[in-house]
Amino acid sequence: MQLLKDKILKEGRVLSDTVLKVDSFLNHQIDPLIMKEIGDEFANRFTDEVITKILTIESSGIAPATMLGLTIGAPVVFARKRKSLTLSGNLYSAEVHSFTKNETNEISVSKDFLSADDNVLIIDDFLANGEAVKGLLDIAEQAGANVIGVGIVIEKGFQQGGMLLREQGVRIESLANIKSLANGQVEFFD
Ligand code: G4P
Repeated sequence: MQLLKDKILKEGRVLSDTVLKVDSFLNHQIDPLIMKEIGDEFANRFTDEVITKILTIESSGIAPATMLGLTIGAPVVFARKRKSLTLSGNLYSAEVHSFTKNETNEISVSKDFLSADDNVLIIDDFLANGEAVKGLLDIAEQAGANVIGVGIVIEKGFQQGGMLLREQGVRIESLANIKSLANGQVEFFD
């Protein structure tokens, strides 16, 4: 998606050989205009599928997932990383280990919002080692839902997640796929 690549080149900051900061439109401040384009692009990529539910994880997956939901008219469920006052009992849960933060979170989704009748599209902001997506796949499996694929805003293709998931037969569509962040430069796969 050229618009997204241009935005990354203009506003992204390479913090290290493995970390890209995109706080100005995706991870802190949200740019609704590009987020709407992102939602439309996901809708186009999965136009051949009937999606009954969009599944994501708080917090940065919520904006792109909601824009897709607006475009296709499907509800968005986000996995919670912390127990909330109202989220109790009747939960699907999975462990997600973050290599970046070196911590493991339990993520949860209420059984009220995901079932065996659902055709699920998973959305997330970044794909690095694939741990968050694996946790969401685990939750969808517990619900008996059918997962049609995964939509990612920015894949870091030099990390293992995308390759491992594709090897397992998971359909992944990433809108920008980064080949390298070496020498402070963002380089994309074609
Ligand atoms: P994984 O799920 O693919 O295994 O990713 P990893 O554990 O490495 O990432 C943990 C968190 O860091 C996730 O956000 C992920 O989106 C984010 N992340 C990974 N690589 C980058 C990067 O290069 N740049 C930025 N900006 N974020 C990255 P999170 O902790 O769930 O945060 P949030 O969704 O609440 O914002």
